Formats: sequence, C-alpha cells, structure tokens
Amino acid sequence: MHVERIVEPTVVVLFGVAGDLSWRLITPALFDLFVDGRLPPRFLLMGFDRADHDDQKLRDRLREGIAQFARRKRQHERIDEFLQQVRYHRGDLMDPEAYLALAAQLDAVNQSWGAQAQRAFYAATPPRFFEPISAHLGAAGLNEPRERSRIVIEKPIGHDLLSARAINAALGRSFKEKQIFRIDHYLGKETTQNILAFRFANPMFEPIWDRRYVECVTISVAESLGVERRAPYYEQAGALRDMVQNHLLQLLCLVAMEPPVSFAADEIRNKKMDVLHAIRPIHHDQVAEVAARGQYGPGWIDGQRVVGYRQEEGVAQDSPVETFAALRLFIDNWRWQGVPFYLRTGKRMAERLSEVIIQFRSVPHRTFPAGASLEWRPARLRLCLQPYEGIVLEFMAKQPGLSMVLRPVEMRFDYAESFSGPSPSAYETLLFDVMKNDTTLFMRADQVETGWSVLQPVLEVWGNSYPTEFPDYAAGTWGPYSASTPLIRDGFTWPPPLKIRRNGERNGG
Ligand code: BG6
Repeated sequence: MHVERIVEPTVVVLFGVAGDLSWRLITPALFDLFVDGRLPPRFLLMGFDRADHDDQKLRDRLREGIAQFARRKRQHERIDEFLQQVRYHRGDLMDPEAYLALAAQLDAVNQSWGAQAQRAFYAATPPRFFEPISAHLGAAGLNEPRERSRIVIEKPIGHDLLSARAINAALGRSFKEKQIFRIDHYLGKETTQNILAFRFANPMFEPIWDRRYVECVTISVAESLGVERRAPYYEQAGALRDMVQNHLLQLLCLVAMEPPVSFAADEIRNKKMDVLHAIRPIHHDQVAEVAARGQYGPGWIDGQRVVGYRQEEGVAQDSPVETFAALRLFIDNWRWQGVPFYLRTGKRMAERLSEVIIQFRSVPHRTFPAGASLEWRPARLRLCLQPYEGIVLEFMAKQPGLSMVLRPVEMRFDYAESFSGPSPSAYETLLFDVMKNDTTLFMRADQVETGWSVLQPVLEVWGNSYPTEFPDYAAGTWGPYSASTPLIRDGFTWPPPLKIRRNGERNGG
C-alpha cells in the first residue's frame, strides 16, 4: 500500500511543550506519524517553554506521555529514535528576545540541513498567548516565507464574538489566512470526515437529504466524564462555548452543506460558511424557548458515586456555569427550510455518545392496520461518531409469521467489521495536514466568528440571568428535565440511544 508521507524538511515548534496538551496529545500523535513512516526524513520538534528543562529533561518527559498515550506505544523501542529529533528552546512566550534566539536556532537548522525547512508554530498554550506569540513571530521574521511558515492554534478562539474577532485580527497582522490553522479536533476524527464521504460519494441518500423527506436532525455529543482538572478553564467557558460553538456547529455544517464542487479547502469551507450564514438568528426573547441549560449534581457513573459540578476542585460553590446545553436551530435556505436541527451536549451524562440522527418524515398514509405494529418508529439514519463507529439505518420490517406484524429493524455499517487495522487519531490527521499545508479540516476566521454570532444572544441571556435551579440533573443521566424544551413544542423527544453490541467498538481519536 502506498503510504503518503511528508517530504519537505520540517520543523514543528511547539510553544507550551511542558503543558498537558503537548504531553498527552500532540507528541504522541507525532510519534505515531513517525512510526507509520509519515514524517519527513528531516524532521525536528523544537519545544519552547519557560520551564527549566534541557533536551534530555524534555525527552524524558515526552517519553512518558508517548508511552502512555500513543496509539503505537507498543513500539517502545522506537521512542528513543523519535526523541532524537526533539530539542528544547527555553524562553518566555512574552519575551521578544526569545523569538530572535529561536529564529537564529532555526536558521542554524536550515544550514545544517542545507535546505529551507518548512516551519509550523503550534501554540499549545492558553489562548491569552495566541496574540503575543503571533506578534513576536512576526517581529522576528518567522512568519516568512509565507508558503513555508504556518501558525497552529486550538480552540477556544475567544469567549464571544468580540474577543474572537480580536484574536483573528491579531493573527492577521502577522500571518495571512492561508498560514493559519485553527484546530477543531472533531474535524480530524475519521467518523466526522466520513460524513462527507457518505453524503457525496453515494448517490442514494442525497436526493432525500432535504426538507421534503427529513423531519428533523439531532446532533448529540454526550460525555460521561466530568470537568476533570480543567475547572479554571471550564468555569469561564461552559458547555455552549466549549462544545456547541465549535464541535457541534461544525458537525451541523457537514450534515447540512451543499455538495462541494471539488475537495479544495476553500470550496469546502465556503460551503460550510453558507450553512452558518443561513442559520436563523435567535432573538433574545426566544432564548427560553429554543435553548436549555443544565448543571450536573452528584450521581452515579459506571457504578461509582461522583460529585456534582459545584463540588469539583476549583469550581465555585454557587457556579452558574452550564455543563449541559441544548439548542434548536433552523437553516433558512431552500434545502432546509422548516427542518429543526436539535443540538445537545453535556458532561456527566448517562454515557459517552456522539451521533447525528437524520429522522425522516412518516409515510403519507398508513396502509397497514393500526394493530399491525406495536411500536411505530420513524425511519432514521444514525451517523454514529463515537465510541461506537458506524452508520445505522432504522426502518420498519415485517416480522416473520402468518400475519402482517411490523417491527423496527436496523441495517448497520460497522467500521470495525468493514475495515481492519487501527485508524489515526484526530491529532495525527490534523498534524499531518498542517505539514501538508492543507487547511481543509481547519476553521477559517469567518467560520469562527459566524459561529459566535449565532450563539451570542444565548450567551448574553444566560450571562444575565442566574440559574437558580442549578444543579438540575444528576450525574449519570441524560440531562435536566428542561433538556427537551427546544423539542417539546415541535412534538419531538430525543431519540433513545442505540443498543450497541459492545464488540463493535473500536478505538478512535
Ligand atoms: C474538547 C472540550 O474540545 O472536547 C472538552 O474542551 C471535551 O471539554 C472534549 O471533553 C471532547 O472531545 P472527545 O474527542 O473526547 O469527544
């Protein structure tokens, strides 16, 4: 099999290399790419941080992370080989001199390689550093040459529309949009990318993928984990900012977009922008009707007692921050006019589950007698993203027997059964694309800002009214009583989760 690999000599500069993101996700993903023969023959990972490390200390720390989190961790004999390509640059992110010194080091690398390496500057740092990192890189001339220099940042990109605009403007002062890679790791997941493949490589569903046949669409991203050790961040964010603004809206775009003319980055991103632009604005006085929020209290997860959000370390005892959010959106265009899109996400929910469900309209006339079916279920197509990875079509069938009795049944495509071998984690895919200079799976500035404008009224209304009912759902349940508020008026409920044959699960990133 042909393995696509990067050929360009490449340096990845990792700002915040001593942090958790670098340790748990980024360097293990680079190691996996290395083991799979995807990295170029000339590759250097230059860690940049304030910590009192040197090359050896950094390598020792990264070794632990790789041994724990890499997909290829069993190949431990290759870890040292990989780490030979890791170096440390000690410096303060706010100190312009540190960037000049970095530039000198990177020039020396070019000289020793006898080549002009491409450079990716990855800000694995809290967002407050995005602006200074970008400015200092620009001042040190590290934003040039344009086609060989890139900056990578992670969500959250701002905490509202204004702050997101400020970050984008600051990045834009040093880098052109084509050089900026904004990560939303959901876009790197195999199952997310497969939404495009499923829709646009197969002709049979596309003709019914619209308002004439689709009754509603639900997008759920539920986690059984709580806030973990991220309270300082989460207390400033909440579910709407943390998940809906990025991951859920990106999924909505993939489900609702028009067929792209080509797979070119901007073609796909333009089609996604069309969806975001068409989302019907939410007025402040509609928020109570179309949005619901909640916060978990104590409860049970996998047989273990867990504390409520307000008892988590670092969380205020009267925290108003939502750990659950649900929303109804409409897309005002020809394809989707009148079809509700229901989005929900929450922490400490009954199970981990990410899925998109396309629910089709009922038959116009029921041919079968009322008694023919004890359970009449609408036809649904489930795009199961994680942990179960597959696509399930639910429809009615005749139960074998002498009389006409109907029963809901399922037809499944299961990744684990259809494809052998592990798939890359989202970070592997995204890092590989950064090195390939392919922005398709990354968020453009206008997408981020339009995403914020969709949610801005909800953020404002929630921000201005203290939720006296919190905590309002027990950990280990499907969210608060109000979770169905956005659906109830339309006569819907959240579809029940699929019963999974557990052996159908695969590892996925
Ligand atoms: C992150 C959020 O973007 O996505 C986290 O900040 C969340 O709060 C995580 O836990 C979920 O990602 P995944 O890949 O585990 O579904």
